[in-house]
Amino acid sequence: MTELTKLTDTYSLNNGTKIPIVGFGTWQTPDGQVAYDSVLAALKAGYRHIDTAAAYGNEDSVGKAISDSGVAREDLFVTTKLWNADHGYEATKAALETSLQKLGLDYVDLYLIHWPNPAAMRDNFEQLTADTWKAMEELYASRKARAIGVSNFRPKHLDVLLKTAKVVPAVNQIFLNPSDMEDEVVAYNEAHGILSEAYSPLGTGKIFGIPELKTIAAKYNKSVAQVVLRWSLQNGFLPLPKSVHADRIEQNTELFDFELSAADMETIDGMHGVAGLANDPDQVNF
Ligand code: A2P
Repeated sequence: MTELTKLTDTYSLNNGTKIPIVGFGTWQTPDGQVAYDSVLAALKAGYRHIDTAAAYGNEDSVGKAISDSGVAREDLFVTTKLWNADHGYEATKAALETSLQKLGLDYVDLYLIHWPNPAAMRDNFEQLTADTWKAMEELYASRKARAIGVSNFRPKHLDVLLKTAKVVPAVNQIFLNPSDMEDEVVAYNEAHGILSEAYSPLGTGKIFGIPELKTIAAKYNKSVAQVVLRWSLQNGFLPLPKSVHADRIEQNTELFDFELSAADMETIDGMHGVAGLANDPDQVNF
C-alpha cells in the first residue's frame, strides 16, 4: 500500500519506476507566459511530476520553466504524449524527438499514446496500434522514455494493443473524477498492473458547485478541490490537477493532513454523472 504522506511519495509502476503520486496537469494551459509561470509555480510549491502533451501545444514553455526552476533532472518526473497525427512506427519515433527538443530534455520519464483510435486510422486500427507500440517499446529500450503507457484507452483498445505488445503499458491516463469513475477501465487496468492516472481530477472545474461536496469539505475544513484530490488518492489513482493560479496550485498540494472516512468516500463514489462523463474514444471526430 502506498503511503499518502507528502506530494513526493511515489507509486511503483509495473517496471519498477517510481512516480510521484500527484502530478501537475497542463491541459488547457496556454503556451507562453501562462504555462511558464504556472509550471514554475508548481515546481516552487513542491510538485516534482509534470504532465504535458504534444497536443497541448505548451511543451516549449513547460520545458523552459523546468530548465529555469533549478530542480535537478533526476528529481523530476516528466510525461508527454504522442498525438493522433503521429501514430505509426517512424512517425512515433520522430514525434518523441520533437517533443524532447521542445522540452529541452534528453529523455521523458513517461511517454503515452494520447488517444487509442484517432478518426483517421479507424480502418487500420490494429496494424497502426501494433506499429506505434513497437516504436514506443524501442524508445523505452533506448531509455529516451523511462516508462511507456497509454491514455484514453478502453479495455477493447488495450486488448488489441496487448495482442502484439512485449511491454505492458505502465499507465493508462483517463478522465477520472467523482463524476466518472470509469469502473470498467479501472478494473481492467488493475488486473493488468497498469496504474490509473486521473486527468480532469476536478472534473475540469465542474465539480465545485456540488452541494454534497461542499458539505464534506466544510466538515474537514478543506476546500472541495482538496477533498476531491484526496478522494482520488484514497482510491489509488494518480490525480493530475491543473491550475494557472499560484494560490490554487499550492492549495492542491495540501492533501496530507486529513483522511476521508469510508462513509464520505462512498458518498463521493456515488456521484456518477454530476459533472459530465468521459468521451467515448471511438466516437470523437479527431
Ligand atoms: P484555473 O486554472 O483557472 O485555476 P481539472 O484539473 O479537473 O482539469 O480542473 C481544472 C479546473 O479547475 C481549472 O478550471 C482550474 O482553474 C480549476 N481549479 C484548479 N484548482 C482549483 C482550486 N483549488 N480551486 C478552484 N478552482 C480550481
